[in-house]
Amino acid sequence: MKVLVIGGGGREHAIAWKLAQSPRVEKVFCAPGNPGIARVAECVGVEVGGDFAAVRTWAKDHAIDLTIVGPEAPLVDGIVDAFEADGLKVCGPSRAAAQMEGSKIFAKDFMLEAGIPTGAAQYFTQSAPAIEYLETLSAPYVIKASGLAAGKGAVVAHSLDEARDTVRQMLDERVFGEAGERVLIEEFLEGEEASMLAFTDGTTVLPMSSAQDHKPIFDGDKGPNTGGMGAYSPAPVVTPELEKEIFDTILQPTVDGLRKRGILYKGILYAGLMIGRDGRPRVVEFNCRFGDPETQPLLMRLDTDLAEVALAIAEERLGEIELRWRPGASVCVVLASGGYPGSYEKGKEIEGLDKVREDDSIAVFHAGTAMRDGRVVTSGGRVLGVTALAPTVREAIDRAYTICGRIRFDGVQFRRDIGKKALDRLAS
Ligand code: AMP
Ligand code: GLY
Repeated sequence: MKVLVIGGGGREHAIAWKLAQSPRVEKVFCAPGNPGIARVAECVGVEVGGDFAAVRTWAKDHAIDLTIVGPEAPLVDGIVDAFEADGLKVCGPSRAAAQMEGSKIFAKDFMLEAGIPTGAAQYFTQSAPAIEYLETLSAPYVIKASGLAAGKGAVVAHSLDEARDTVRQMLDERVFGEAGERVLIEEFLEGEEASMLAFTDGTTVLPMSSAQDHKPIFDGDKGPNTGGMGAYSPAPVVTPELEKEIFDTILQPTVDGLRKRGILYKGILYAGLMIGRDGRPRVVEFNCRFGDPETQPLLMRLDTDLAEVALAIAEERLGEIELRWRPGASVCVVLASGGYPGSYEKGKEIEGLDKVREDDSIAVFHAGTAMRDGRVVTSGGRVLGVTALAPTVREAIDRAYTICGRIRFDGVQFRRDIGKKALDRLAS
């Protein structure tokens, strides 16, 4: 099979890395890819965007058998519908299905109607009534732009002033453009977050192992939220009983509920969950794709051939597939640019990559890197995802951090406590 991966971050590096191990895959292409992906795939400069005409033509000309779409933006814009209209096989949700991420109001309405456990929310298009409503609540306040805002559209405000400012920025100043035309004010959910992803062909749902992200920039979950500073799998907060509950009350009913509403959800469904003090899971958000950085530790643990799974999704025969997971635990530590998630400089030379011996249990996934004069330099906020699999989470953490110590670039910052929540939970 010839497989095309769309995207160019750490998630797509992990997807391409896993596909390259498949005996069924003759060649992996990636558009646009990055210097890390270039070690396992051929990166192609074809334009992905607009009506997807260029990339569809490219895929047909190169006899691509299967396309896997990494990021949410092309999914929400209908890349899957466009590929399928041309008879191309593709793993990912249609434009209608991708609304589960593309419109937080669509997702919330769906969840409330279908009885999927989640927090309450009110929607606003004008700042005055939104602020009036905020004044009836108490801190913390959760304010979200309904549309896609590159991961920045959700704000947890700890004071009424900050909450008012956020509402004004979204609705009056339109800092997120159209994505912020409608705003949700949500019930604040307390507890511990976990990510449960599933493969689905619209009928069969195969849950993946659990994972946990680390959103805030600093140790101890301090500071502003980022795209994710590290992740591990499995997440001990998700016990086997809870895993079953999440499948029975969230993942399967979501796919079934969408199908009953005429939407066949094919691809990866990502449930961002809050596990409450009462031990019950509630949905914070759905994403229509693999998580980043959860994908890096998840795909390192996935034993089943990803190409087989993705093809079965495209052909709507996922019921034939059984997922197997490698034992042990995997951990991904993100090395970020100094200043991230605020402004940061790019173009810093990365040293030490050649000192890492990679195999199927150790990988340095590239997220924001570029080539300059034959050298790898930084080109994004999240730069690398150092990922290791080991028999225990303690050993996986140690392995990942040992490698982090060998890689250097000007201003590098990373959290020192990735996986600590798993250790604490296992100790208690
Ligand atoms: P989202 O983009 O919806 O995933 O939100 C980003 C982050 O904000 C989440 O990972 C949570 O840490 C936090 N968050 C979002 N919604 C809520 C909520 N209703 N209650 C508590 N925290 C939330
Ligand atoms: N890790 C969070 C996300 O992918 O949205």
